[in-house]
Amino acid sequence: MYEVKIKQTRIEVMRFLAQKIDSIIEEFLKKIDANWQPADFLPDSTNENFTKEIKELQAECKDLPYDYLAVVVGDTITEEALPTYESWLLDVEGISKTERQGWSKWIRMWSAEENRHGDLLNKFLYLSGRVNMRQMETSTQYLIADGFDNGAAKDPYKNFVYTSFQELATNVSHRRTATLAKKHGSNQLSQICGVIAADEARHAKAYKSFVSKIFEIDASEMMLAFEDMMRKRIAMPAHFLRQAGESIGKTFVHFSDAAQRLGVYTSLDYTHILESLIQEWNIANISSLTGKAEKARDYLMSLPERFKRISERGLKAPVEYQFSWIR
Ligand SMILES: [Fe+2]
Ligand SMILES: [Fe+2]
Repeated sequence: MYEVKIKQTRIEVMRFLAQKIDSIIEEFLKKIDANWQPADFLPDSTNENFTKEIKELQAECKDLPYDYLAVVVGDTITEEALPTYESWLLDVEGISKTERQGWSKWIRMWSAEENRHGDLLNKFLYLSGRVNMRQMETSTQYLIADGFDNGAAKDPYKNFVYTSFQELATNVSHRRTATLAKKHGSNQLSQICGVIAADEARHAKAYKSFVSKIFEIDASEMMLAFEDMMRKRIAMPAHFLRQAGESIGKTFVHFSDAAQRLGVYTSLDYTHILESLIQEWNIANISSLTGKAEKARDYLMSLPERFKRISERGLKAPVEYQFSWIR
């Protein structure tokens, strides 16, 4: 009975927030006609200079280090598994795929923006001459086929914690790959990672604002949802990543090790993101909570310090790994 009541409240809160969906879209997403498209950042194949431009692109990419390429391939595959994320979110309570004006409108328009990320990275990597495309594509097909489980089930509060976290995490990692691309000679790739990072930052703002609104209306339940997601730890969207012939999730470990070695996304970043969310949602000062939610708040407040102690201990550089994706 209690569960049913919670579910009902969440659906009502979602419905209430959905009344403002058009202004939410207006505020956080770009108009399609004015938005950047992958073609803006790639050589134009109808141009007579096409082959010359590819040569230049490839020359810029020749010094990109091994781990760096592995991370960008992993990022690309993560972006390419967008069908999984869209279908997951369309299945969340309070989001109905038949209601074109409600939350599904947000999910579709967000997915449409996100779709440019994998598309752009994929085409660039194809042109770079550094990647075994067949192996990368096989991993992408596996990742979509294997699906994912973000631990939030169909709960909208938990899913918005997840998406807030993930948009921030992808912002960090694309921003860092942008900086490294420049350092290793490819201004084009740097620009590409940079525009994608900017999209992620904008999306993060949106999801964080949804959670802020829910905190205003249903603070205790929102607190418990945040606590639950952090207790489980936020699973990365590509946590099932694998290469051909491997078992599910095996490559993910090596991909995240490479990201950690490069400093593109580290366990300390995970902690910093958590800290920024605690600040953003003003967790320390949320009052009038139920006893259980107060305990959840205290747990959340203590978590960054705990994570810092663990990540300091765990900062070793694991050995390099042979990825089949890299030529
Ligand atoms: Fe993305
Ligand atoms: Fe994103």
